[in-house]
Amino acid sequence: MGRRGLSSWAFVRLLLLGCWALTVLHLLLNPWAWPGTTGDPREPPLSYTILTIHQGYQAPQVLARQRLRSRLSASQHYQDEREQLAHSQKLPRPLDLQPWADLSESFQSEAYRFLNYIGTLQLHCSVALSQALQRGRLDGVEGAWEVCLDHMTTLSPKQEKCLVYTFSVVKRATDFEEKMSNVGCEVHTFGLTPQKEDNLRQKNHQVVHHPRLWLDWREHRLIALPQGQKSSSRKLRQILQELGHAKIDVLEADLASAEWKVLESMLLDGTLEAVHQLILTIHLHWPGYEVAGNDTTVVRYWYSLLKELETRGFLLFHSYQDPHRPQLFLHKSHLNTSSSYTLGWVNTRWMF
Ligand SMILES: *[C@@H]1O[C@H](CO)[C@@H](O)[C@H](O)[C@H]1NC(C)=O
Ligand SMILES: *[C@@H]1O[C@H](CO)[C@@H](O)[C@H](O)[C@H]1NC(C)=O
Repeated sequence: MGRRGLSSWAFVRLLLLGCWALTVLHLLLNPWAWPGTTGDPREPPLSYTILTIHQGYQAPQVLARQRLRSRLSASQHYQDEREQLAHSQKLPRPLDLQPWADLSESFQSEAYRFLNYIGTLQLHCSVALSQALQRGRLDGVEGAWEVCLDHMTTLSPKQEKCLVYTFSVVKRATDFEEKMSNVGCEVHTFGLTPQKEDNLRQKNHQVVHHPRLWLDWREHRLIALPQGQKSSSRKLRQILQELGHAKIDVLEADLASAEWKVLESMLLDGTLEAVHQLILTIHLHWPGYEVAGNDTTVVRYWYSLLKELETRGFLLFHSYQDPHRPQLFLHKSHLNTSSSYTLGWVNTRWMF
């Protein structure tokens, strides 16, 4: 009996020891089962929490540095992208605006400065070829152009052939083409200008027509015409490239209010350097295609464009106010000026 009792005591001790060992082992292997820690085994253990707090303490600086670094690299990336985009699309730099006419920054001041500017000649021309010589016959014809023969060096036989471009969306007389062709120039007409095409051909004039090629300030656009044809509209730079011309002796254009954006694009991409004489009909009754802003800023923009021309060496030798057009200036009639002028400049820095 005693022996059996002893052996059963030993068995109980063994059992208790085994339980204790198992408990210790369990606690060692599963620290979250310690009293005082929450029961969810998915919760990170205490030691890890301390580590997290430790990391969190450093976080403000570290994270800020990381954020700054990623922001810098993002902005660098953005800048690189912009530069790539600008390079691929050859985005021109924006036009430098002239200062306001005076401190009042008023419409009146801007309008007077502009009108005074386009009415003041900067270059004297002693011999000119003009529409005015035939005023009797062409009375009422839009746009009185004038070409300064003092600055037509290419008319001498030794020089490279004289080249003339003319652009118009309105049907009009062909006297400009005829006269320029008569003085020995190769004339390229774009848009709707050729009205008496057959007459010109019969007289064997050197006139080349490009009725489907139109001048634009944007890169390569296809315009669908009502007849279902496609008209390509190009920047002057592209037209010159396509026709294989390096320079233009006279560029005459009535772009029906697209003149401001076209002029801007030709100035900014430098194509105007290839032009010796520029004859442009400007329209003042409204701001023009894609010209935004209030009246004051619009006039300042127009003025800035013409001043940029002057900066590039273009001097005004001819200014004609069309009396047959409405007396409107940005929808206002009180300025008593025609809504249409034809201006002529000579590029005094022409290199050809
Ligand atoms: C025209 O716009 C300019 C620039 O946006 C502004 O400074 C000026 O006050 C405006 N003028 C008028 C008369 O609204
Ligand atoms: C307006 O201009 C015309 C000629 O351009 C001139 O004859 C007329 O006197 C002017 N009127 C005013 C009010 O200035």
